Amino acid sequence: MKDRAIITSALPYANGEIHLGHVASTYLPADITTRFLKMNDVEAYYVCASDDFGTPILIQSEKEGKTPAEYVSYWNKRDHEDFGSLDIDFDYFYRTSSPENIAFVQDVFKKLHAAGYIYEKEIIQFYCKNDKKFLPDRYVRGVCPYCNASDQYSDLCESCGRVPDEISDPRCSICGIPPTKEKTLHYFFKLQEFGGVLSKWLEGNENLQNDVKKYVQNWIKSGLIDWDITRDISWGVPVPLDSAKEKVFYGWFDNHLAYISSAVKFLNDKGIDGKEFWNSSDIYHFIGKDIVYHHYLFLPAMRLGMNSEYKLPDYIPTRGHLTLQSKKISKSRNWYIGLKEFLEYYPADYLRFYLVAINPYSQDDLNFDWDDFATRINSELIGNVGNFVNRALGFTVKSFDGMIPSPGMPDEEDKKAKEKILSLYGVVNGLMQENHLDRALKKILEFSSFFNQYFQHKEPWKADSDATNCVYLSANAVRNIAIVLFPFVPGSAERMWSQLGLSGSVAKCRWNDLLELGVEPGHMLGNVSPLFSRVESADIERHKSRLGVHI
Ligand code: MF3
Ligand code: ZN
Repeated sequence: MKDRAIITSALPYANGEIHLGHVASTYLPADITTRFLKMNDVEAYYVCASDDFGTPILIQSEKEGKTPAEYVSYWNKRDHEDFGSLDIDFDYFYRTSSPENIAFVQDVFKKLHAAGYIYEKEIIQFYCKNDKKFLPDRYVRGVCPYCNASDQYSDLCESCGRVPDEISDPRCSICGIPPTKEKTLHYFFKLQEFGGVLSKWLEGNENLQNDVKKYVQNWIKSGLIDWDITRDISWGVPVPLDSAKEKVFYGWFDNHLAYISSAVKFLNDKGIDGKEFWNSSDIYHFIGKDIVYHHYLFLPAMRLGMNSEYKLPDYIPTRGHLTLQSKKISKSRNWYIGLKEFLEYYPADYLRFYLVAINPYSQDDLNFDWDDFATRINSELIGNVGNFVNRALGFTVKSFDGMIPSPGMPDEEDKKAKEKILSLYGVVNGLMQENHLDRALKKILEFSSFFNQYFQHKEPWKADSDATNCVYLSANAVRNIAIVLFPFVPGSAERMWSQLGLSGSVAKCRWNDLLELGVEPGHMLGNVSPLFSRVESADIERHKSRLGVHI
């Protein structure tokens, strides 16, 4: 672990609201990791941006009668707000259509061009005579030539994850008629030439997930194809060549460059040398498995093509898709839950807790299930954590007027409890570093459950018991729970902190603080009250019945 890090998560397209599917695989794990790194004294910055260019956005803005610039600026603001209500705490949220990104993209192109990695070629492109337009990417749908899945976009098969060379049985996605083919001049990036170095880079980078590496290596073995990086549309970064007037870059040429241009802009504005910082940091790009091709091949190849002027990623944590009640999320079938809507029903921490708990560090899909959500929140977050915190602090208020007593002679159970508190750091730290956030959370729940039993067994309410150790250690266990849960459920951890009556904010704590018993004898607790309220099954039934229905 370096003492600097830049964390990014896949840039959301500026064309619709953020829903639970987006959050689970990328934004939430990235946010938790950033908070964890910051608590470990890493100078870490979480940088994101809206992904503003590309054909789908142009199509949608046309439909709504807005200019694409107006359209994306609405979504940029809205998305940023929605993330904020889930406590996704970006240090910077910018946009791919920023002047800095446009300049950077053009500069990268010139460098790749000068290094001989770009060539021009006349291609035959789909053209719709009805709509009088060239039809790149999403303007055409058809059958994937690799896996035969039907109704796929021409630029990405959502079924097998590959980028088809040419889609079969093409149709214009605006009007549905089969397109004709016309000639046009395009620019290509020589991805093919990078097979060998990419393979070596994958091989040598131990921090990348093995299962992902394996199939990316297979793609390389079966041969990469050069990559058409220009489009005949009006919305994108202009190609900086006289021979390419009216052409723009393909969205996937410019969007990931905004990881760099946004980070550098943010750092430079802070008076830090952005480029130097980038190159001396651990670089994390959090993604969902649908964009592996782009992040394990295009992105590193482009950086390699610039002589690694900006270093390649160290980590590309890749997670599976979220399904909803075991069915694929689909906006058009109204089978999704908007983030904003969800947060009208439940606190951000309920969602954060649940989405981490069900989310392994792998490409397996995960499932949002309303009943399971209710069960986990009620039994784990509330029944386990909430119960222990409230019991321990509530008892202290009732029996000791809220003041932590001086502990007497510890018995064996007390010694074991103290030992548990001091070893929590070690139990959780490694898992967090290795990105196993779900397993780390599980360990925290085990810790809390241990203390529930400890408290129960010590029976501090009995007249003949020595309650002092139990109260003292339990309060310290609560303190550790607050610190260690902060990256996962920051709002709740903050409330625990204030109920403990500790000064400052848990956000200011360091991971090292787990190694001491920071609640001392004589300390006064703050105001104690239940942390959470239960998820009611009548509400869950109502939420279920709304799914798939147009409202
Ligand atoms: N907007 C893209 C998507 O949602 C992700 C872009 S990530 C970046 O699939 F790397 F390209 F920026
Ligand atoms: Zn058409």
